[in-house]
Amino acid sequence: MIIWFTLNDDSITIDTDPEFLLVDLLRKEFSLGGARPGCRRGRCGTCAILFNGHVTSSCMLPAFKALGSEIVTIEGFMKTPDFADIERGFQRAGMDPCRFCAAAKVLVTYGLIRHNSSPRAEDIERAANGVFCRCTSYASFVDAIRYAAEARRKRSNVGRVS
Ligand code: FES
Ligand code: FES
Repeated sequence: MIIWFTLNDDSITIDTDPEFLLVDLLRKEFSLGGARPGCRRGRCGTCAILFNGHVTSSCMLPAFKALGSEIVTIEGFMKTPDFADIERGFQRAGMDPCRFCAAAKVLVTYGLIRHNSSPRAEDIERAANGVFCRCTSYASFVDAIRYAAEARRKRSNVGRVS
């Protein structure tokens, strides 16, 4: 099946098995390894991408669903100013996600703060709970999200003044 979509701002056309999972397609055909297969059941979050602007598990999407869509992977997202806020927040919290969970932690944070840079504590906790990680403390991820939201708020306020 021939499908076309936008990938990290590039227009893509590819002939692929329609049932091939997006997480595998991104890794094998485009060498985009930031979304990583973990549970392959939509639970751990390690295969996170932005799919039409929403944080989505790419292990749950067969390739045919990508037809006409807009996909941003962690590699593309890292080039945006939105990423800079999150990076700042993570650094302030002393959190350095490994390659296995980085896409999930960064994109889940973005999904939470993109439209509301003052999220409620319970929403932050729910977001942090959605990412599987046994090696970093849950509290530092919660702090990282809080600091990222603060960095985004500050940037929005600067934008308003200038
Ligand atoms: S591999 Fe996709 S959610 Fe776990
Ligand atoms: S799984 Fe990446 S830091 Fe824990």
